[in-house]
Amino acid sequence: MEVAIFKTADEASRAAACLIGRSLKEKSSGTVLGLATGQTPLGTYEELVKMHKAAKISFRNVTAFNLDEYVGLEASDPRSYRAYMREHLFSKVDIESARCFIPDGSTRDPRAECTTYEEKIRKAGGIDLQLLGLGQDGHIGFNEPSSSLSSRTRLKTLTHVTRAANAANFGGSEKVPQHVLTMGLGTIMEARHCVLLALGANKADAVQKMVEGPLSAMLPASILQMHPRCTVILDEAAASGLARQNYYREVFAGKPAWQRWDLPLD
Ligand code: GLP
Repeated sequence: MEVAIFKTADEASRAAACLIGRSLKEKSSGTVLGLATGQTPLGTYEELVKMHKAAKISFRNVTAFNLDEYVGLEASDPRSYRAYMREHLFSKVDIESARCFIPDGSTRDPRAECTTYEEKIRKAGGIDLQLLGLGQDGHIGFNEPSSSLSSRTRLKTLTHVTRAANAANFGGSEKVPQHVLTMGLGTIMEARHCVLLALGANKADAVQKMVEGPLSAMLPASILQMHPRCTVILDEAAASGLARQNYYREVFAGKPAWQRWDLPLD
């Protein structure tokens, strides 16, 4: 795991956008991006839009797969993750809408939808870079504690904690759908590069356990310790619980220029 600590949330979000921007430029045949929702990636999406407007990156050949979606919401529902992605990224860049995939939460057959979603990822050649946020209980996607560490895309039941964390969009946690479709931990682990972004002091405990704690289904993000290429991007508040902070900072500061992924793109 590479742990990169930035002073502020803005700096961390900019760095994440530079890393994603680089991956778009590296693979002109078309990067396959895995995308996340929630508060955390908003700054990164804003930066990506700016980079696109400045003609530094294009999404023309990009294929995107989102991690998850609420069950029971139509794609047009403003509270759906599809609406979120449209609002914050897809409508603002040159990505082809036919190549923007999100599990269909309005399906009548969730099992078939999940199998098809996995097939689509496979057909696209697998995910090159998977962006991830982190739940306060250590979930990634909507893989709640006790999720199988080798799970695939499937229907999950949200915990009360997660429903409460997402209550603002729904006007109360009891109105947050109880069920979701989410890529599994096994699906996420097949991405060639996992990039987890965590911002703010309320993520510090989960970050510490994910990076330095034991691998456990009770802290699903800890599976990333097994990933051959995982970059964890943090602001100082989210990094504040890490015991080996100084070591991570030293490693990052000592990177040769050609390995730096956080510098602005030309
Ligand atoms: C939700 C999403 C996750 C996200 C997490 C953290 O549960 N399904 O993908 O990473 O919440 O959200 P936030 O970034 O708003 O803290």
